[in-house]
Amino acid sequence: EMATKGGYPHFMLKEIYEQPESLATTVAGLEWPLLETAANTLLSARNVYIVGAGSSLHAGLAFLQLLLRIKVTPVPIVASEYATYEQLFDKGDVAVAISQSGETIDTIKAVRTMREKGVRVLAVTNVVGSTISRESDAVIYTRAGPEIGVAATKTFTTQVATLSALYVAALKTLGYDTAPMEREIKALPDLVRKTLENTAGAAKDLAKRLKNKPSAYYLGRGAALPVAMEGALKLKEVAYIHAEAYPAGESKHGPIALVEEGFPVLFVFSDPNTREKTLSNVAEMKARGAYTIGTVPMKSDIAKRLDYAIEVPELGELTAPILHIVPLQLLAYFTAVEKGYDPDKPRNLAKTVTVE
Ligand code: AGP
Repeated sequence: EMATKGGYPHFMLKEIYEQPESLATTVAGLEWPLLETAANTLLSARNVYIVGAGSSLHAGLAFLQLLLRIKVTPVPIVASEYATYEQLFDKGDVAVAISQSGETIDTIKAVRTMREKGVRVLAVTNVVGSTISRESDAVIYTRAGPEIGVAATKTFTTQVATLSALYVAALKTLGYDTAPMEREIKALPDLVRKTLENTAGAAKDLAKRLKNKPSAYYLGRGAALPVAMEGALKLKEVAYIHAEAYPAGESKHGPIALVEEGFPVLFVFSDPNTREKTLSNVAEMKARGAYTIGTVPMKSDIAKRLDYAIEVPELGELTAPILHIVPLQLLAYFTAVEKGYDPDKPRNLAKTVTVE
């Protein structure tokens, strides 16, 4: 088994470290004409839906943040809740269905219902020939390679990279100069490699500080919120720590009541447009004794405002969400290992959920 893990103690760690390579394959495999056709259908749709479960849903929410910038207003749908939205589904609508495995039953059911109602479904999946790829109108493959660890890592970052490229394709069809963004996407493998090098030590150290905490908040605003959601999901899944992701501003409307001396609150600073407001949330949490942590852009002065900062080497705001999730994956992994858990086989979880 050591051989298949390539010398790593766990598949999860191996797959986290494979991300530069996986992203290189994703980026090399981007089919721009296909992306532009897909982008055109999104731009001319009556309603756009984004549907998925777990990490795939989080990737979809990251995509939603981008689409809002070009006045596309998708309805985000938690796959298992599709029935609530069923009356909306109609001809002229387009759905982006995201599923690593392409076999998640909730997402399959949503796709089937949408197609019966005439919705055009664009699948984003990692598995060629999967049910969702076969049952959709068009497919974009993420090319992450096989993922064994139950916690999605490289399949998540490749989903976000693929969807970011789809957004860039939309900008292109709208006539924008997308060269800087294309350069950012091409730089992803290198940026993730640097992020792994720069953040692994801090994530390992922070895991020691977090391992005895019963709960943590993960806060972010705007494009940083889906990253916070994904980071919190990772910690729950493998380290069994109650981690709750919340919009940073909304935390004042209830969750802050739990904060006392030493309560860990992690802020994701991947979105430059929401930095100032998020900093005021840091101050509020600090005033209540919280232990404030943050993933912050390198060489910014945000680090000084936190008890513990993990510095991420960013290039631009398009790819920042992909880079900021990397230390949070590592944090979840190292915390699980510190606590003596096997991060590859978290209790109660299946890699692919095939029951409703
Ligand atoms: C992620 O770490 C989880 N294991 C889980 O939330 C997963 O993302 C979800 O079940 C969706 O799976 P899919 O992408 O294969 O549809």
